[in-house]
Amino acid sequence: MNHARLHFTFLHQTVTLKHYFNEFWLCLRRIKMSTAYLYPHSLKCLLITGANRGIGLALTQLYLNAGWQVDACCRSPEKASDLNALTTQFKTLNIYDLDITDYTAVNVLSAKLFSRKFNLIISNAGYHGPKSYKFGNVSVSEWRKVLEINTIAPLKIAEAFYSQLLAGTPSIYVALSSKVGSITDNISGGGYIYRSSKAALNAIVKSLSIDLAPQGVISVVLHPGWVKTEMGGPHALISTSTSARGLFDVIATLKQEDSGKFLNYDGQMLPW
Ligand SMILES: NC(=O)c1ccc[n+]([C@@H]2O[C@H](COP(=O)([O-])OP(=O)(O)OC[C@H]3O[C@@H](n4cnc5c(N)ncnc54)[C@H](OP(=O)(O)O)[C@@H]3O)[C@@H](O)[C@H]2O)c1
Repeated sequence: MNHARLHFTFLHQTVTLKHYFNEFWLCLRRIKMSTAYLYPHSLKCLLITGANRGIGLALTQLYLNAGWQVDACCRSPEKASDLNALTTQFKTLNIYDLDITDYTAVNVLSAKLFSRKFNLIISNAGYHGPKSYKFGNVSVSEWRKVLEINTIAPLKIAEAFYSQLLAGTPSIYVALSSKVGSITDNISGGGYIYRSSKAALNAIVKSLSIDLAPQGVISVVLHPGWVKTEMGGPHALISTSTSARGLFDVIATLKQEDSGKFLNYDGQMLPW
C-alpha cells in the first residue's frame, strides 16, 4: 500500500513537474512572441562593401529600412558622413574600415565577424579607371588597379566570408557587375580596362555559383543600370535610389535555380 502510494506520489510529481515545465516553456514562448517586434527573431544580416557613397550607400539605407542588420564596409569611415549619419537612426548598422584589396585586412575583419550568419553579401565596391583613352595607350598600372578592385577582391571577399555565408544559408552572394562586361553586348569597342575587369568578374561568379550551389549559396552578378554616381556621371539614366530599389527587389526574389545568372536591376536576364 505504502509502496503503491509512494509510486503514485512519484508519478504524480513527475506529471506535475512535466506540467510545470510545459507551462514554463509556453510562458517563455508567449513572452518571446509579444516582444518579437523588439527583438526580431530572424534578423537578416548583410555585409556590403563600398557603402559610403553611390549605389552602396543607397543599398545600405534600403536594407536598414527593411530591418536588416548591416555590416557596412568602406575605406575611410571617418570621412563617410552620409553613412555615419545613419547610425543615429539605425542601431543595426555597424561600420568597418576596409580597403577590399588589403587581403590581410579582409581576413582580420572576417575573424572579427566570425559569429555572423550572413544571409547576403554584396560586393559593391568598384573602380572604373581611366575613361578617355584609346587603343594604343592603355595604362598597364591602371589596368592592374582596376582588375585588383573589380575582379580579384570580390572573390577574396567570398573566400574570406565563406563560413559566415554557410552559416546564413540559404544565403546569397551578389557582385555588382556591368552590362559593359557583356561580350555579346559589346558593339562599340574600346573600354579595355573596365570591360575586361567586369567580364572576368562574371566568369568568377559563374564558377562560384557552381562551386557553392551544393552548400545552398546562391551567387549572381547584377547590373545596377546606368546610375547617377561619381562613376556613372551626371548624364546617367537613373538615380541611386531607383537602382537600389530594383536590385533589392531582384535579390528578394532569387531562388537556387537563379544561381549563376547575370541579371539587370529590373530582373531581366543579360547576355554574357
Ligand atoms: N554607376 C553606374 O552607372 C554603374 C554601372 C554599372 C556598374 N556599376 C558598378 O556598381 C558598383 C558601384 O558603383 P557606383 O556607381 O556606386 O560607384 P562610385 O560612386 O564610384 O562608388 C564606388 C565605391 O567603391 C569604393 N571603392 C573603390 N575602390 C575601393 C577599394 N579598394 N576598397 C574599398 N572600397 C573601394 C569607393 O570608396 P571610396 O569612396 O573610398 O573611393 C566607393 O564607395 C561598382 O562595382 C560599379 O562598377 C556602376
